[in-house]
Amino acid sequence: MAKRNQGSEKGPILITGGAGYIGSHMALALWQNGFLPIVVDDLSTGRREAVLHGELVVADVGDAERVAALIRRHGIHQVIHFAGAIEVEESMTDPLKYYHNNVAKSLTLIKTCLENGVSDFIFSSSAAVYGIPEKTPVGEEAPLAPINPYGSSKMLVEMILRDSHRAFPAFRYIALRYFNVAGADPQGRIGQKYPRPTHIITRALKTAIGQYPSLTIFGSDYPTRDGTAVRDYIHVDDLVAAHLAALEYLRSESASAVSRTFNCGYGRGSSVLEVVRAAQKVTGREFMVEMGPRRPGDPPELVADASRIRRELAWRPRHDNLEAIISSAWNWEKKLAGHSDR
Ligand code: UFG
Repeated sequence: MAKRNQGSEKGPILITGGAGYIGSHMALALWQNGFLPIVVDDLSTGRREAVLHGELVVADVGDAERVAALIRRHGIHQVIHFAGAIEVEESMTDPLKYYHNNVAKSLTLIKTCLENGVSDFIFSSSAAVYGIPEKTPVGEEAPLAPINPYGSSKMLVEMILRDSHRAFPAFRYIALRYFNVAGADPQGRIGQKYPRPTHIITRALKTAIGQYPSLTIFGSDYPTRDGTAVRDYIHVDDLVAAHLAALEYLRSESASAVSRTFNCGYGRGSSVLEVVRAAQKVTGREFMVEMGPRRPGDPPELVADASRIRRELAWRPRHDNLEAIISSAWNWEKKLAGHSDR
């Protein structure tokens, strides 16, 4: 499915997990910005049809031989590593899945990159590395103290990258710590589609559309303004823009032998109740909401101090508005459900 465009002059970029939710938005943006996306995805949760441009190689990122061959064949120097397991709650009950998929396979991938001349590595880390931060908004210098195996797995990969860079300074990396990513391509071409969606905005919208009878709020006794958990929701396109800025930063000469970590969020939190109200407003549907117990592994509040990425990568978000984020996700959900509009 290799389709070359006139814009692939900036060269190939390897994207692991590029058939997944965030990875597919990244691949599309890379293509539009003149890169050739080479996607490696085992399609365990990713979807073939989400890869709109470039090349899709159906393989495991832990398959060193195939990935090495791909890096050599395309002369790849830059890798963006999205592939991994992503559910906090599942990581509490199946921790080894997280250490295997997220740590062991990342270790193999990093080794493959080091051995095959990759110079730049961008890693999908997570706000989950902070655990329950002492201060909020939380800055990158805060202690790393994950409270679930998902967060621990991301922290370990950050350490592997840090130590690899120290030993081999020509190998540079940027770790992007994502806060809560949501929304869909504003043009409606791609969006989130998981077999078992767990994220709050997706669950709320699927409830609004009638796929679930009600939405359960996990915990109303948190020490927050309304008792429900607070998160910093960031539009997927703004997150993708952060990766493009990171990529350009690594490609610039001034970035020689530099490795960095950046929070990706807006610096503003919304409670679960505020998300629910915004979803009801955007959809115009008063779907049923129930209060339930806390979900294991959930911190009360995670809000980014995003000043570093704004300052150092000149990142300027364009969709910093909860209703706009939900609205783009709603258009996508309606498309999935076969509604044209309503
Ligand atoms: N929630 C509900 N009901 C639901 C689903 C979620 O009340 O049906 C609550 C959760 O308990 C949590 C909040 O909504 O308090 C957000 O939950 P999500 O599942 O949408 O997202 P998480 O905060 O658990 O995790 C997400 C990503 C992680 C990332 C983290 C960083 O999945 O990869 O954000 O903040 F690490």
